[in-house]
Amino acid sequence: MRRTLIAGNWKMNTDHAAAVALAEGVAKGSGDVENADLLVCPPSIYLESVGKALDGSPVALGAQNMYAQPNGAFTGEISAAMLTDVGAEYVILGHSERRNIMGETNAMVNEKTLAALEAGLVPIVCVGELLEQREGGKTGEVIAEQFAGSLASLTADQVTKIVIAYEPVWAIGTGKVATPEQAEEVHADLRRLLKESYNDEIADKVRILYGGSVKPSNAAELMSQPNVDGALVGGASLKPEDFLGIAKAV
Ligand code: G3P
Repeated sequence: MRRTLIAGNWKMNTDHAAAVALAEGVAKGSGDVENADLLVCPPSIYLESVGKALDGSPVALGAQNMYAQPNGAFTGEISAAMLTDVGAEYVILGHSERRNIMGETNAMVNEKTLAALEAGLVPIVCVGELLEQREGGKTGEVIAEQFAGSLASLTADQVTKIVIAYEPVWAIGTGKVATPEQAEEVHADLRRLLKESYNDEIADKVRILYGGSVKPSNAAELMSQPNVDGALVGGASLKPEDFLGIAKAV
């Protein structure tokens, strides 16, 4: 049975004091969440302080990105080992903002995924189509291409250690959430791709999160879909009551 994961992607928001206060708020309310694992992903510069604020709580810590190389002349980048060094357990990879604004390719996401696994981090590998791709009937094709490219050469053992996040780009930060049926259709497709690439048993172990305008009011219906195993939350993860409200709706 897959346990629901509610992950907060704070993106480039908060300052030091706000990040610590948000983490403390989430940690404080986490005791009331029974049916989900909780994870927060602050900006990298606040990881250590947020980790301290979460100490003793069941809330896990994750990063929003990393570089694939272990060390060296890569000005401005952060390695997987640096993330684990400050207590991160998860890392979001291939978020649509990194793919579409920073130009990350499936090959880069794949390299990062392998490096994250090597370092013992849980990669949350994001896929998702643009509005014009959905409207052009290309959603299945785009998702299959991102799946194959981003997860290329992962062994069966490695794939059971990842989380996949489906984030339709048109639903991110727009308030236009995918319907539970739209989400389930792509999640079921991803599960089928896992079955075809590996086997049923492995496919059934992988958590597939939905992301895009998730709020406390729409979370229960989305999470009730058979292949939706949690949420990757942006805007609503910036207030403890909203983030915890989503987790409590599970
Ligand atoms: O990674 C989460 C994100 O892209 C969704 O953002 O603000 O629509 O919940 P939001």
